[in-house]
Amino acid sequence: MVDIANGSALVTGGAGGFGGATARRLAAKGAKVVIADVADERGQALAKELGNGAVYVRTDITKEESIAEAVETAAKLAPLRAAVIVHGGPPPPDKGGRVIGRDGSRLSLAHFAHMVNVYLNSAFCATAHAAEAMAKNEPLASGQRGVIINTASIAGFEGQPGQVPYGAAKGGVIGMTLTLARDLAPLGIRAMAIAPGTFHTFAYGAMSAEDLQERFGKMIPNPKRMGDPDEYAQLAQQIVENDFLNGTTIRLDGAQRF
Ligand SMILES: NC(=O)c1ccc[n+]([C@@H]2O[C@H](COP(=O)([O-])OP(=O)(O)OC[C@H]3O[C@@H](n4cnc5c(N)ncnc54)[C@H](O)[C@@H]3O)[C@@H](O)[C@H]2O)c1
Repeated sequence: MVDIANGSALVTGGAGGFGGATARRLAAKGAKVVIADVADERGQALAKELGNGAVYVRTDITKEESIAEAVETAAKLAPLRAAVIVHGGPPPPDKGGRVIGRDGSRLSLAHFAHMVNVYLNSAFCATAHAAEAMAKNEPLASGQRGVIINTASIAGFEGQPGQVPYGAAKGGVIGMTLTLARDLAPLGIRAMAIAPGTFHTFAYGAMSAEDLQERFGKMIPNPKRMGDPDEYAQLAQQIVENDFLNGTTIRLDGAQRF
């Protein structure tokens, strides 16, 4: 069990749906939480709500120096014991996601590269900076120094129609998880990923609960609704607390398949 009560936790996208729910759970366990996001208002309000030394650090996940600063802030608060990497990012330069759109147009390399940068390169970068900080921690009695949780998607397993770049990026997150765990094992750092199905987060904007249920909730086999971000946070907490969870990506999807 990672001693989160005497440590800090970094949550990228910490002001978001999954990130906010996770920040709340880790703070409730005593962690000093760094909310790393670009949503200033939501991030600051959450830091105030959490208390216990929680801070909002404006962090652009597409910039390495910004990630480094967030990690540094967390490590200064207390030994960094958990990094939950669960950010979104800026939208791609053009619409679509099919390799050949319905109008016959080819998906641009710029679009593909943008999505890989936002969802995979940034996840690697945050992982590497967090691991570097954790490696400097005194090991706990269990020999553990920390845990890193990335966020994939079920789209990384079986693809989401019309979303080639997103599926590729999330497949990359799944692909790096076991190797990360092996590489970080000698340091006592675990690496895991969560692959969510369809969850009601800020990503779904202003759609009403009824519209969301009609459009997405109904297609989940059981339970027949979208996931609640706290169900993600519950799993993240379990991963932090359970030392034997390592090197794998856990689906959290109510049996949804695209
Ligand atoms: N919601 C779902 O159904 C679902 C399913 C599978 C995977 N995911 C993944 O979960 C992650 C989080 O998504 P969410 O659903 O909580 O969305 P969300 O919109 O609720 O949260 C994303 C957060 O990322 C922040 N963000 C945007 N650009 C950023 C940047 N440049 N740097 C740092 N932070 C930035 C946003 O401000 C927001 O607070 C994403 O990687 C998404 O792909 C979501």
